[in-house]
Amino acid sequence: MGLIHRLSPRLANQIAAGEVVERPASVVKELLENALDAGADRLEIEIEGAGSRLIRIRDNGCGIGAEDLPLALARHATSKIDSLDDLEAVRTLGFRGEALASIGSVSRLSITSNDSDEGPGHRAASEGRDQAVTVTPAPHPRGTTVEVRDLFFNTPARRKFLRTEKTEFGHLEEVVKRLALARFDVAFDLRHNGRSVHRLRPADTEAEQRRRVASVCGPAFLEQSLPLSREAPGLRLAGWIGLPTFSRSQADLQYFFVNGRIVRDKVVAHAVRQAYRDVLYHGRHPAYLLYLEVDPAQVDVNVHPTKHEVRFRESRAVHNLIYGTLHRALAELRPGDSPAAVPAAALAGEPVPAQGGLGLAGAAAPAGPAPGSRVPPAPGGRGPLGPPLGPQGTRN
Ligand SMILES: Nc1ncnc2c1ncn2[C@@H]1O[C@H](COP(=O)(O)OP(=O)(O)O)[C@@H](O)[C@H]1O
Ligand SMILES: [Mg+2]
Repeated sequence: MGLIHRLSPRLANQIAAGEVVERPASVVKELLENALDAGADRLEIEIEGAGSRLIRIRDNGCGIGAEDLPLALARHATSKIDSLDDLEAVRTLGFRGEALASIGSVSRLSITSNDSDEGPGHRAASEGRDQAVTVTPAPHPRGTTVEVRDLFFNTPARRKFLRTEKTEFGHLEEVVKRLALARFDVAFDLRHNGRSVHRLRPADTEAEQRRRVASVCGPAFLEQSLPLSREAPGLRLAGWIGLPTFSRSQADLQYFFVNGRIVRDKVVAHAVRQAYRDVLYHGRHPAYLLYLEVDPAQVDVNVHPTKHEVRFRESRAVHNLIYGTLHRALAELRPGDSPAAVPAAALAGEPVPAQGGLGLAGAAAPAGPAPGSRVPPAPGGRGPLGPPLGPQGTRN
């Protein structure tokens, strides 16, 4: 008798879940990313017990057909990539095909979905060691509802690591905030224990976008920050940076998005730190909300399972653009300047094409793209940088 045996699918998934499903917030992140990848523009998030009791996410995306439901719950099954070439230019938030299988192995998971405007829809749940999937008809409009109950009920070690309800909900809310800042075109509705926490309507105009930023980052940030927007060949940077007087004791208001994906990156952090070096006291942290768009082929997102890290092929160009833009904006400030006193044109660098009137540095005169620059549209939809994407409703 040999000593080696295959792990049951559930056990293999539980091991994989160790990497991706750390706490309720990670489940919410994976499920919301799936809904966005499915082209949804309305997300309803219902939470009980900070997510350990219930996470229910309903979207109006493309839905999943009955024949695909068992695969959606299986490991290493995805509709998002086919080949390594696809991975090179991946535009979806997910692509590993692991999240649902992992979540299903450490919770009671069900998916109800409909991929058409007629017909009833179907519900799927997976059970047992082999995570066999049962599919039954169930009413649902086009779109998907994923329900995760009793997270970590069968992995007590994980459950023990959960912190207080307040802490866990704080993490979960942060996930929602980040996605709400990444996708101004999507409505978010977050409820906890029956109470409404965030109700964000789609933000199309600049005024609506500013309102969303104020409601997510706090009104003080918006009042004490500079809008900026600048292009370099193949790169586009926009967003808001906090005035030196708005510095923080913690690095808690720092958001950097690359092609709509929140990212923590050493190159970026270094560039920002350098830019603020002369205007911040030691130990203080700048606040910023920055969006970088770059050709997806120029950035590797397959560096880390939760995809929080990326690798830029041209990291020097990225560093230069961020450092240069921020440093210049900060250098032009005079003591006592308020953001309104700074000529927006001075901060805007080369003007960004104001698609749909969404140029962030609103006062800068819109013109065509800088000569020779080629900036692809953001993947996964419309960030505040503007250009709406092509049709997304297809299964992707
Ligand atoms: N909310 C959703 N709407 C439509 N399809 C979904 C949704 N969630 C998951 N899916 C489908 O299930 C598949 C597996 O999801 P997941 O395990 O998260 O892997 P990945 O997102 O990496 O593909 C996805 O590729 C997608 O086809
Ligand atoms: Mg996914």
